[in-house]
This record gives sequence, structure tokens and C-alpha cells, in this order.
Amino acid sequence: MVDQVERAGQPEERHDAIEVLSHEDRRFPPPAAFAEQANVNDPAVYERAKADPEAFWAEQAENLTWFKKWDQVLDWDNAPFAKWFVGGKLNIAHNCLDRHVEAGKGNKVAFYWEGEPGDTRTITYSELLKEVCKVSNALKELDVVKGDRVVIYMPMIPELAVTLLACARIGAPHTVVFGGFSADAVRDRINDAQAEIVITADGGYRRGAPSALKPHVDEAIEGAPSIEKVLVVKRTGQDVPMTEGRDFWWDDVVGRQPEQHEPEEMDSEDLLYLLYTSGTTGKPKGIAHTTGGYMVGATYTHRAVFDIKDDDVYWCAADIGWVTGHTYICYAPLANCTTSVMYEGTPFYPEPDRWWDIIERYKVSILYCAPTAIRAHMKEGHQHATGHDLSALRLLGSVGEPINPEAWMWYHRYIGGERCPVVDTWWQTETGSIMISPLPGVTTTKPGSATFALPGIDADIVDDDGKSVPNGRAGYLVIRQPWPSMLRTLYGDPERYEETYWGKFENMYFAGDGAMRDEEGYFWLLGRVDDVMNVSGHRLSTTEIESALVSHDLVAEAAVVGQPDPLTGEAIFAFVILKNRAHPEDQAEFGKVLRDHVAKKISPIAKPKRVMFTPDLPKTRSGKIMRRLLRNIASGQTIGDTTTLADSGVVDLIQEASLSQSDDE
Ligand code: WTA
Repeated sequence: MVDQVERAGQPEERHDAIEVLSHEDRRFPPPAAFAEQANVNDPAVYERAKADPEAFWAEQAENLTWFKKWDQVLDWDNAPFAKWFVGGKLNIAHNCLDRHVEAGKGNKVAFYWEGEPGDTRTITYSELLKEVCKVSNALKELDVVKGDRVVIYMPMIPELAVTLLACARIGAPHTVVFGGFSADAVRDRINDAQAEIVITADGGYRRGAPSALKPHVDEAIEGAPSIEKVLVVKRTGQDVPMTEGRDFWWDDVVGRQPEQHEPEEMDSEDLLYLLYTSGTTGKPKGIAHTTGGYMVGATYTHRAVFDIKDDDVYWCAADIGWVTGHTYICYAPLANCTTSVMYEGTPFYPEPDRWWDIIERYKVSILYCAPTAIRAHMKEGHQHATGHDLSALRLLGSVGEPINPEAWMWYHRYIGGERCPVVDTWWQTETGSIMISPLPGVTTTKPGSATFALPGIDADIVDDDGKSVPNGRAGYLVIRQPWPSMLRTLYGDPERYEETYWGKFENMYFAGDGAMRDEEGYFWLLGRVDDVMNVSGHRLSTTEIESALVSHDLVAEAAVVGQPDPLTGEAIFAFVILKNRAHPEDQAEFGKVLRDHVAKKISPIAKPKRVMFTPDLPKTRSGKIMRRLLRNIASGQTIGDTTTLADSGVVDLIQEASLSQSDDE
């Protein structure tokens, strides 16, 4: 700390991509009993994988069922276009279903599903297989063949997972559009993928009310001439217009199909799915994932990071509409024959304890969720959780954003009862599966650090010239070697793929994130490099300052952005959400308290110039704070594109909140 305070007063000699301000001393070794039973508990795995990554991944691939074994593990001759398990033939749905049923596990529960209104369904592996076969046959009846792209726009109901698996079974790449997105998003994705069919529902439940989906599809199709058919699941029973000859009810078409279906033999490199990410500017990028390598990366990481056992009840509380749901609700858990919980609705309906109630009732043993959810629960208060029996939990995971050390501690203490390891998992839609994360039976964790790259993953941090930076310094997070579940390209735009991910540094995948390694080599994610602020020549990450704010007892969540400043180039502008129990009498005064808190906690150079208290923050549907919008608000510009915003009312709320800012510089 002293070092940093001194540094703040001196002119910088080094020109680091990002400066490091914070420091963490708390450590949590794996509990002995956990380590003993863990799927991975020998640290030698890192060295073994490093010595021969291809052999390591081939070993993982052996755990899966291949119709024909691969001839070559990796073909990287045409870098950055990778091929994994070249020549291998398989079907991922067959790996997720048939082989478990054949092995006598048909009666094992695949999903405990719970709808937001409280309706429930329990689905075994053999029931899931039958349903997937029927839907595969239904797709055939609707003229969908191998290679056709299928757009899926559904609520979190079992039919969503069934549809993904049916597409995979017949070899039709799916592209899921998150159920909360608008008609525009559906249209753009249909057009980019040139899909001929959309699978949707009449609606789904959110915040206690049915919300319609089908009308968005109708609107989207007006500008999407490739669509010929629409298959509609009845979920809410609300009235929806059906177009004769184009729209079909799921129950009619699926209901009449046979329960057997021969899975298509897919090549390892056949397209499994496209998932669009909005990117910072321009048209959405269709991230392309193929079959064999994706399955290997997904199942290995799921088994190793979540320590999956036969009797676990695992809950990934994400939405299938984003990659976390693709990999860790659908494909990996099923391929590992896991029993999962799947929940349709919002965490706070009808009461703030909905999640904790679910965990108690289903005896969930592994919970995986996003920091944004953890902070939202922190805001509501831990009393909602501690009123429930959460003793079945044995492991906790986090994904999607840097987890602030205090949010990590809260999760560890109140949800994990101080006995569960916490795995902070860093990865991306592009990486397909987890890249940087503790192994819960091996790694001593530090709150807020994703710790180390997983075995078989070669992550590094480099400076502007692409040179590795020493421990204790920050820079750009890169991956130096290909990995099985990596994206293969951007759909229809290989040049953009090369330029976006491989263009900044030679022979390195650049993830777009800033990161640092501490003295012990632990990785700390520092947020997107596009969000780095330049304050009087200091390049500051958003993450550390936000974490410093969240470390104040009354703060639930914070977002900082740079605001143009005539004196310092940029000034730090902090948006702060207080916990429900906080009622500061004088907001301007409390703003000053928080600003001083940051100065003391990390460094005076990181002290926000302005603090604005707001009831909410603009977030994407996957829970990421949209700092771009906040930058526009802070600099008084027009708000710009809000199509991926979860709740567009938030921007108005924040603009109304502008009077309570504190500014005493
Ligand atoms: C961020 C989600 C810090 C990061 C699986 C990344 C994280 C982007 C973490 C990808 C983490 C994800 N710590 N940051 N544990 N996990 N991120 O494509 O900026 O929705 O580049 O994939 O989320 O988001 P995506």
C-alpha cells in the first residue's frame, strides 16, 4: 500500500497498460476433506498438461464416446483457424443422453425444473432422450436437415434444452437468442445466420407475469425473408396469432413423432452452434463453435472445476441464452450425467429468498452464478439466505465479471457457510469453456482472483509490445496456444475473426481484458481494456476501484467510468448502489466518505471525483454493467444504442438521480 501511495505522487517512468493498485492478503486453502475426495487433487496435472497439451486433451477426449476416433489431435497449420480431433466422428447429444441410458442410468434425474409461478417438472435421462428424439423427428418433418441453422428464442423451460439437443442430434447448428432480447435482435441473427426456422414459445414468466415472445418473432420475420417455419411451445397460454402454413404448435408436431431417432454422425469440426455477442460496435459477431473440441473442453472443465460427482445436485443459475447456459446448463452437465436444477424466473420473485428456498428444497450441492446476482443478493441482505438450510452446498462458483473481493467474502460466508471452496471462473463466449479458475481440490484461493489458467491452457499477460510482463504488473490477457473449445471463426467473416482476436499481437489470442499477476502468479482480472480510464496519465482499471467501493459496508454495487476532464484528461465518475439497510442522511457527505474510503483502500489517484447514488445500473441481460452507457451519461452525451439493455427504464432512473451527486473538488 505504502508503495502505491508513494508511486502516486511520483511521475510514472513505466508506461504500463494498466496500473496495479490493490493488494489482497486473505487466503483460503482447499479444506482437507474436500481435497481428499476431489476429482482433481494432484497439482502435478498442471505440469503434465504443460509438457504435452495435445496428449492431455486427447486423454480427456477418451472419456467420451466417438463413432470414429480422431486421426490427429490438433491441426494448427492454418493458424488461427484450428481443427481439433481431426477425422473424429461423434454426436454430442448422443454423448449427453444415449450413452447414459445405455449404461443403465436412464432413471437418473437430468433436470429438476422449476417455473417462476412454482410449477415443477422432474425429467430423467430416459425421458429427456425420448423427448429429444421426438423433437429431432419433428424437425425432420419440418424439413430441417443437417447444416441448416435454427434460431431459438425461448424462455427457460425444459423445451429449450431439448431443442438444443435435438438440433445437435440432427446436426443443425442452433443459434439461441436470449428470451429478453427485442425483435430487432432476433431479426439480425436470423439474417446473419440465414435461418429458415425459428423455435419459440407463446411467452414465459418473468417477475410474476407472463411476457410474450411470439409477437417479437412475428415482428422480426417481417424483415427476415429466409424464415419459412415457426414452431411454438405453449408455455403461458396467452393469446398469440398463428400464421397458417408457417406457424406450428409444438404439441401438435412433436406429439405425433416416434420416440426413436438415430443420431447423425457428425464430424469433429462440424458446426455445433453460433452464439452472437454484441461486440462494442457494429454488427453482432456470430461466434462459431464446432463439435468435438467443444465437447472435450466443456466436459473436462465441468468435471475438474465443479468436482462433479454422481450424487451432486448442480445448479448453474444462468440463462441458456448465453454461453454459460450452453456449456454449463446444457452440454457439459448432461455429458457428465449430472443432475441439475433449472429455474425459469427472476431471483427475487415472489420474495428475495427464492434462490435460497430452491437450494434448500432440492438440496443443491453446487451453485454457479454471476457476481451481479451475488451483489443483488448482498443488497437485499444475508438474512434471506441464512433463514434457509443451505447445508447441502459444498462448492460455489462465479462467472461473468470480476467478482469483488467483498462480494466473494459475502458469498463464502453467508451462502457457503465458510466451508465451500469458491471458484471464480474466467472465460468468454469465444473460449467456449472455463480458462482461468481454481481447481477446488488443489488451489489456495484469494478473494477476487480467478487464480491460475487451467491445465492445458496457456494464458499470459503482455504489454503493448506483446512481451510478457513480470509478476506484480498489469497488461493485456492473452492465450498463447490453441485450446479445444476455442471459437473457430466468426460466422461468414473469417477476416474479422483474425483481426479481432489475433490481430493485436502476433500468434496470440487477445481476449480484450486487462489483467495482472500478483507476486505469486495469481491472475486478477481487471475488466475490459476499453473501459480503462486515463487519469492524469495513470491508466486505471474499473475493477479495482469498484471493488474498493464495494468493500464499504453499506455499498452493494458500483460502476466507475471516465468522464472528460479539462485538468486530468479523465476524471473518475462512480455510480453507487447502496444496500437496502443504508439510509445516509446527507448523500453529499456520504459521497465524500466513499471517495475517502477509496483513497485509503487503494490509492489517492483512484479517488472518484464524483459519486452518484443510483437505485440501479444499466446491465446487459447476462448481468454485465454497460459502462459505455454510463460514460455517455457521465459526459452528458446521448445515450446511444440500448438494445441489449436488460431494463431500459434504468437509464431514466439514473438521469433522475443526477441531483444527488457529490462534487467537492
Ligand atoms: C468477463 C461469459 C472477470 C470478461 C462466460 C470476459 C470475467 C467477458 C469473468 C466474457 C471472471 C467473465 N472474472 N471477468 N471470472 N468471467 N468475465 O462472453 O470481461 O458473456 O471477457 O462470457 O466477461 O463474457 P461472455
